[in-house]
Amino acid sequence: MTEKMTLAVIYGSARQGRFCDTVTSWLIRELSSSDIFSLTIIDPLRFRSARGDKAGDLGEWMERKVGEADAFIVVTPEYNHGYPAALKELIDSVYEPWHAKPVAFVSYGGASGGIRAVEQLRQVFGELHSVTLRDGVILAKAWSKFDAAGNLYKPEEVQASLFLMMDRLTWWARTLKSARKATPYNEIAA
Ligand SMILES: Cc1cc2nc3c(=O)[nH]c(=O)nc-3n(C[C@H](O)[C@H](O)[C@H](O)COP(=O)(O)O)c2cc1C
Repeated sequence: MTEKMTLAVIYGSARQGRFCDTVTSWLIRELSSSDIFSLTIIDPLRFRSARGDKAGDLGEWMERKVGEADAFIVVTPEYNHGYPAALKELIDSVYEPWHAKPVAFVSYGGASGGIRAVEQLRQVFGELHSVTLRDGVILAKAWSKFDAAGNLYKPEEVQASLFLMMDRLTWWARTLKSARKATPYNEIAA
């Protein structure tokens, strides 16, 4: 059997009472039986509550978490037409571990479903030599789509976007993993 790749699911929000928990819990339930990916979680809130004020080792922690991942899904809300500062702090804490790896987005918010946050994140990840996926999951008025138990009222609609995104992410993750192995990305140019 082929070895599973590692997929990091990244929480974009670090707010207490965040809706990100509902969206990400649903996503993790959907992906947990994957034959292709093992999941790892990158959550700024859990990092902070575990480390308290000693958050200085964020870079070290992210070096390991991003370094071991072959692909990423960023679950991001939209704040004032952008993405959360906590997410930027995570992203900026490391550089090379992002290189030549694919990044997909699950976004949520009001009418826009977080797409303005995603468009800004594409610029950021471009600078990090990551490949961002065109296809993602967009949850407009996200709070109206989940029941109190965190289940989607109409799962099929959202699953169609998720499955397409995962097919594309699998292709990119496999392709770039094998390309990184054949030629380390940091060796191709100074
Ligand atoms: C500071 C702030 C700014 C927001 N700005 C926007 C916005 O520009 N567009 C939008 O669609 N929703 C906006 N919202 C609504 C959020 O997308 C929504 O509350 C979402 O659930 C927040 O994610 P979180 O609870 O996981 O942090 C904003 C929310 C906050 C707290």
